[in-house]
Amino acid sequence: MKRLIFAGNWKMHHGPESARRLIEAWMPGWRPSAGREAWFFPPAPAIATVAQMLRDHSGCAVGVQNVHWEASGAFTGETSVAIAREAGATLALVGHSERRHVFGETDAECARKVRAVLAGEMTPVLCVGETLTEREAGQTEAVVRRHLSALDGLAGDELARVVIAYEPVWAIGTGRTAKPEDANEVQRVIRAALMPSQVILYGGSVKPDNVAALVAQPHVNGVLVGGASIDPAQWSAITSATAD
Ligand code: PGA
Repeated sequence: MKRLIFAGNWKMHHGPESARRLIEAWMPGWRPSAGREAWFFPPAPAIATVAQMLRDHSGCAVGVQNVHWEASGAFTGETSVAIAREAGATLALVGHSERRHVFGETDAECARKVRAVLAGEMTPVLCVGETLTEREAGQTEAVVRRHLSALDGLAGDELARVVIAYEPVWAIGTGRTAKPEDANEVQRVIRAALMPSQVILYGGSVKPDNVAALVAQPHVNGVLVGGASIDPAQWSAITSATAD
């Protein structure tokens, strides 16, 4: 059975109290079933609250939106893997397009973060994807391969633990979604470059009305959702979607 992962990236929305309300509104509609998972990436101060609320709910996991690669030290404003883990995170986004384009994160930094997350026994979710200019210049595959270079040199067992989120930048927060077949084709290329068993999510304006067609694609193991993941009704509809 294909794993079906619905991941919500809350970005800079919701502290502990409003996170609690959001989870409370979503929880009654969650129907755990084999292979179906709901992942949550709240802002760091809300991780502990969300993790505690979901502790006894099968198929649910919590992650941090960004980590620093150092274990500890004088890095004001940063969150280490160990701190995120202590708060209840088991997953970590790495290289989200906002980290790359707003904060200037590089592939070399992503490589260090992926290694730190793996060393901390957490699951890295490496985000890759091209801008509109790059797509129009026919560079999608080259850009994605460059982003995947953060994984160069990982041992096979480490690579197997990495989740990829293909998020074309032009589709993030814009209401424009990649056509399911186009998303599938890029994800096929990613899978071919990594491992046949690699878990690969699609992200970029995923909504209740397009999620089923996306997760029905053979190379799409789930979705990474921004805007629609902080609306309880939309998020419930998305996490109830099936691939058939
Ligand atoms: P969006 O964001 O669903 O609002 O397009 C996706 C993401 O940034 O992960």
